[in-house]
Amino acid sequence: MSFRTIEWRDNSVVMLDQTRLPAEEVYNGYTDFKSVAEAIRGMVIRGAPAIGVAAAMGIALGARDIIADTFESYFRQLENICEVMAKTRPTAVNLFWAIERMKRVALMNREKELSQISEILKEEAICIETEDLAICKAIGRNGARLVGMGASILTHCNAGGLATAGYGTALGVIRAAHEEGKNIRVFADETRPWLQGARLTAWELMKEGIPVTLIADNMAGWLMNRGEIDVCVVGADRIAANGDTANKIGTYSIAVLAKENNIPFYIAAPISTMDMSMNSGDDIPIEERHSVEVTHLQGLPVAPEGISVRNPAFDVTPSRYIDGIITEKGVVTGDYLRQLKRLVDR
Ligand code: MRU
Repeated sequence: MSFRTIEWRDNSVVMLDQTRLPAEEVYNGYTDFKSVAEAIRGMVIRGAPAIGVAAAMGIALGARDIIADTFESYFRQLENICEVMAKTRPTAVNLFWAIERMKRVALMNREKELSQISEILKEEAICIETEDLAICKAIGRNGARLVGMGASILTHCNAGGLATAGYGTALGVIRAAHEEGKNIRVFADETRPWLQGARLTAWELMKEGIPVTLIADNMAGWLMNRGEIDVCVVGADRIAANGDTANKIGTYSIAVLAKENNIPFYIAAPISTMDMSMNSGDDIPIEERHSVEVTHLQGLPVAPEGISVRNPAFDVTPSRYIDGIITEKGVVTGDYLRQLKRLVDR
């Protein structure tokens, strides 16, 4: 890959600043957990798996600065750091998954010296990043089988290398199909209001030389109707036990339109995006973001001052619209309740 989304370098966490893409490719260094939390909240890094990696690395940074005499005091302070991380973004479950994993590792090593525990936490955070890359490649391999020769693929938001440790989930499927010589092409929804599709997916795919065409969100239905889309592949922020899937706002509309037009609609996501504690999508918390994202474009107003605004950042696609969930352990189709549980437990 020609860019690095996030990495641990010396005693800092380095992230590609996604708020400045595609105009500038700038890498920011972070040396304390509060600034990492701020980077997650401010979308310097975004996308469910990448948020998980960033949270883990932020916790590891914070752990190094803890001053304590006992494990109990160390762990209390670690929990406070975790609380700060947990308050950054509510929908992507990978954030909470990573936080729990870091806490578990600290507890498992409670008998060790505190400085040693902090070192182990750093190694764990790096391990989460390395694992995520391998997981994305497996998702890509599993998903590419569902993509036909010459297929035209619609994707939404950015579920690419920028949203993960690299390679991507939905874009992982697209990358793998491209690498297999399937001669695919991609339609990228611009993804209002934050424009992840226009700013990030278009940038990422062009950098890789994968043919991509940018469309405004409201064009997807018409292109489907015209027979210009063969398959839809998107990512996920949280998948409930019954397969209902929270993803970037606009995903639900695409899924409904895909069903209406008999086009297969797939979710690509790692097991860490499954939240088996939630029975259905109704339980998934949906982040509501600042109104300025809707009223302004690049700082310029596109709506009258004082207008009332709604800005839910995610929606939930009921599983009946989903033809398959592509994971690193295989593809789940139908009977999500039973099959997802089997997959998670495996
Ligand atoms: O608000 P964002 O940019 O964090 O939302 C990202 C998405 O909705 C992605 O589709 C999802 O996280 C999957 S990333 C592999």
